[in-house]
Amino acid sequence: MENSIYGPYRDILPRIKDDFTERIRTFQRLEKEHTGYKICEHLLSRVKSEESMRQKLEKRGLKADYKNALTQIKDSIGIRIVCDFIDDIYKNVENLKNLSGVSVHEEKDYIHHAKPNGYRSYHMILVSEEPFGDVYGNTPGEFFIEVQLRTIAMDTWAALEHQIKYKKSIKNQNLITGELKRCADELASCDLSMQTLRNLIRESE
Ligand code: GTP
Ligand code: MG
Repeated sequence: MENSIYGPYRDILPRIKDDFTERIRTFQRLEKEHTGYKICEHLLSRVKSEESMRQKLEKRGLKADYKNALTQIKDSIGIRIVCDFIDDIYKNVENLKNLSGVSVHEEKDYIHHAKPNGYRSYHMILVSEEPFGDVYGNTPGEFFIEVQLRTIAMDTWAALEHQIKYKKSIKNQNLITGELKRCADELASCDLSMQTLRNLIRESE
């Protein structure tokens, strides 16, 4: 594909994504070895599709070139870590912050500060030093990676909400939005109870 929106980075972004994902899996494995408990239920990663990237650039009024795609849009590489319990999310966050050559560009705790629609997740935009030249000509280069961390409950809710958001023709939008918000709050309450239960079980072990 000659005219990739990622230009010369088309094949580099998947490599960065895979290497970074492997670093995450490594600290998750180590946590399991040290504590006996897994901190990740499953992990997903993707390079933003050509089409979504072009759409996002256009929406932001930016020229469709690879420089903007890599520097103005910060989720060309996206990783989602889905956890069983809320505490596991913060364990992953701690580990991410301790990775060498990685700094936090932006952090949003939508768990303690849920969005008005009920959306919950922990978002981080990381800057990772990588063995490739970046668009500024620096090697090692700096690349943005977005990491979203959620519980299974938060993830299930977000998937459903996403479907509804993009189906503009749905009737009773207001009713549905209100009910979704109620579900989000109920799920959040369940997440807290499940966390408490797990703590109790661990204490009694
Ligand atoms: P972008 O840079 O356009 O992503 O906007 P932002 O920085 O204002 O977004 P934010 O960090 O709040 O969210 C980024 C990503 O989180 C989105 O692309 C979605 O994947 C997810 N997200 C955020 N809010 C919602 C929401 O209300 N519902 C769902 N389903 N996903 C959300
Ligand atoms: Mg964002």
